[in-house]
Amino acid sequence: MSATLPANPESVFTYGAPQLKFGSGASDEIGYDLSQYGVQRVLVITDPGVAATGIPQRVADQMAQFGIEARVFDGVHVEPTDESLIAAIEEARSTGPWDAYVAVGGGSSIDTGKAINLLATNPGELMDYINLPVGKGQAPTKPLKPFVAVPTTTGTGSESTTICVMDVLSLKVKTGISHARLRPTLAVIDPDLTFTQPPGVTAASGMDILCHALESYTARWFTTYEHKKPEQRVPYCGSNPISDMWSEKALSLLAGSFRRSVRHGDDAHARADMATAATFAGMGFGNAGVHIPHANAYPIAGQVKDFHPKDYPADESMVPHGMSVALTAPEAFRFTFEASPERHVRAAQLLAPNAGQPTDAAEFLPTVLADLMRDIDIPNGIGAVGFSEGDIPDLVDGTMKQQRLLATCPREVTEDDIAGIFTRSMSLW
Ligand SMILES: NC(=O)c1ccc[n+]([C@@H]2O[C@H](COP(=O)([O-])OP(=O)(O)OC[C@H]3O[C@@H](n4cnc5c(N)ncnc54)[C@H](O)[C@@H]3O)[C@@H](O)[C@H]2O)c1
Ligand SMILES: [Zn+2]
Repeated sequence: MSATLPANPESVFTYGAPQLKFGSGASDEIGYDLSQYGVQRVLVITDPGVAATGIPQRVADQMAQFGIEARVFDGVHVEPTDESLIAAIEEARSTGPWDAYVAVGGGSSIDTGKAINLLATNPGELMDYINLPVGKGQAPTKPLKPFVAVPTTTGTGSESTTICVMDVLSLKVKTGISHARLRPTLAVIDPDLTFTQPPGVTAASGMDILCHALESYTARWFTTYEHKKPEQRVPYCGSNPISDMWSEKALSLLAGSFRRSVRHGDDAHARADMATAATFAGMGFGNAGVHIPHANAYPIAGQVKDFHPKDYPADESMVPHGMSVALTAPEAFRFTFEASPERHVRAAQLLAPNAGQPTDAAEFLPTVLADLMRDIDIPNGIGAVGFSEGDIPDLVDGTMKQQRLLATCPREVTEDDIAGIFTRSMSLW
């Protein structure tokens, strides 16, 4: 799949996932689940929007019957920043010690929970653990506390991954912390918690699921890397037979239920399919990795000018994660097509089983993607969220800093390639 084959090809791939509890009513059992760890004081972490649904308080209240004292912290910033994480860590450190953490919310709450757990159990500061070159890239030296992740969006898959994503405000760059110990101890996925997810959030976070599945499905095949020593292994190992299985399943579920979940948020079947798809795609990309659309998403979100998406907090300009990923996806898959035409065609078929294949097979996936994005009201390209041609050099700079992600791309990718993808993504239809 890759242009240059390594001298000593990799022969090993890895798969990691948290313990998982899935289904309607699963979130009513968290008190019992945590009592099995012998915990007494639990911090429940959420954002103000999710707190307003009453769900986090309900989760906290239910712990009392197991003799657990639980407090809700609702100070999560939607799309966390280094500053918001530092404030959350301060809060947890000053009110602790806590025996366990429960994050109830979307990726923002779950990622904030990961950072809190890391820094309430380990010495030092946030920057010490942020990926190189932005931070010092240190690994935790002490074990973390039990951490339960309870998603209320259908998107990020953060409940099964080892990463915590944040915006570093002073550098206008999005980056993260990545370490196996950040993976939640238990993921509790209860589709009933997603009914209140507004249409705009359902659409953007659903595009995140879709791109996780597509990017991991088209990622570099694991044997195209140089053979690693055991101590060199990273959570992302390229596409492989196990991640393929999760990605394909996620695409079929999205085909059946994505549009419906946006238009009919009270459809229990569609909501359950989306929650399953998010979990499956998380298990796929959490092991295989993602590539160009996610690498481009970081500068798109980090360099936002003036854009206020429907159904997100109105006080701040933002391009939500799932939207920022989607905006260059059709062009990115036009670019990666030649690395694995059969995979790109198969993905389009899974996503739109009734669509006819265009004469030019390279157009199939981009067309299916653009049709879906238009139907669910995703903005028409990066121009529609406020960028113009003059912004492209800065966007390209931001993407090229995401070498960890670009290394998963099935083709070698240059600055010119990325500039072309941004230029052609100004408008998509
Ligand atoms: N760690 C990972 O593996 C990973 C992967 C992808 C994305 N992310 C990160 O996750 C974040 C995005 O997370 P997200 O898309 O899940 O959304 P989110 O957590 O940012 O929430 C989006 C909005 O929806 C609201 N909301 C969420 N659930 C709701 C519900 N059930 N009812 C009513 N309102 C609800 C929130 O209050 C918020 O305003 C970004 O910071 C992104 O970078 C992390
Ligand atoms: Zn994502």
